Amino acid sequence: MLLHIPEVLSAAQVAEIRRQLDAADWTDGRETVGVQGAQVKRNRQLPEHSPLARELGQLVLDALARNPMYFSAALPLRAVPPLFNRYEGGEHYGLHVDGSVRNLPQGGRLRTDLSCTLFLCEPEDYDGGELVVVDTYGTHEVKLPAGDMVLYPSTSLHKVEPVTRGARVCSFFWVQSMVRDDWQRHLLYELDQNIQKVRAKLGESEEAVGLTGHYHNLLRQWAEL
Ligand code: NI
Repeated sequence: MLLHIPEVLSAAQVAEIRRQLDAADWTDGRETVGVQGAQVKRNRQLPEHSPLARELGQLVLDALARNPMYFSAALPLRAVPPLFNRYEGGEHYGLHVDGSVRNLPQGGRLRTDLSCTLFLCEPEDYDGGELVVVDTYGTHEVKLPAGDMVLYPSTSLHKVEPVTRGARVCSFFWVQSMVRDDWQRHLLYELDQNIQKVRAKLGESEEAVGLTGHYHNLLRQWAEL
């Protein structure tokens, strides 16, 4: 499931993050990829362990912790600290798949079930730079307003088209979900969205309670913690 989550960050939060990022030192994006990725990746990143990356990454995670749509779709168990990248002057990232396991800075590892890209610039401020995700339903081009995020299965092949005008600035990170299987996550998301509609229409009714019980029993069946 590829999902657009609107307004993860407010305009004021985006402006503050951009003010700090625009004044930061960037390094070669090939520092955080394996052999295959290094051959096709041409961009810049905020150094992974820099205090600024940590601080801004925490701001992103705090915003997501308050976002019910993100929780419902990702069912996050843990996430890597968000990273930040910048593409300009023809920079791009060719077709690749994200590594399946990543080390966490605090120790331990994370299985990458979901990849997230949070846009920190407006689509009209740059040309190119579309995130292109290939899945069984075809090819999807994603270019979202500043503050919006796309969530997609890390199993997908994807690329970032060359940026031919302006700069594309984004945050990106990976999530290990409590529910490993994309289809099971999708079913739970759809069920949750429909329960919200039933609750809005009928209140805390017998139907809403029954369906909520069903949701939790499925999650109990499928969750790995
Ligand atoms: Ni990638």
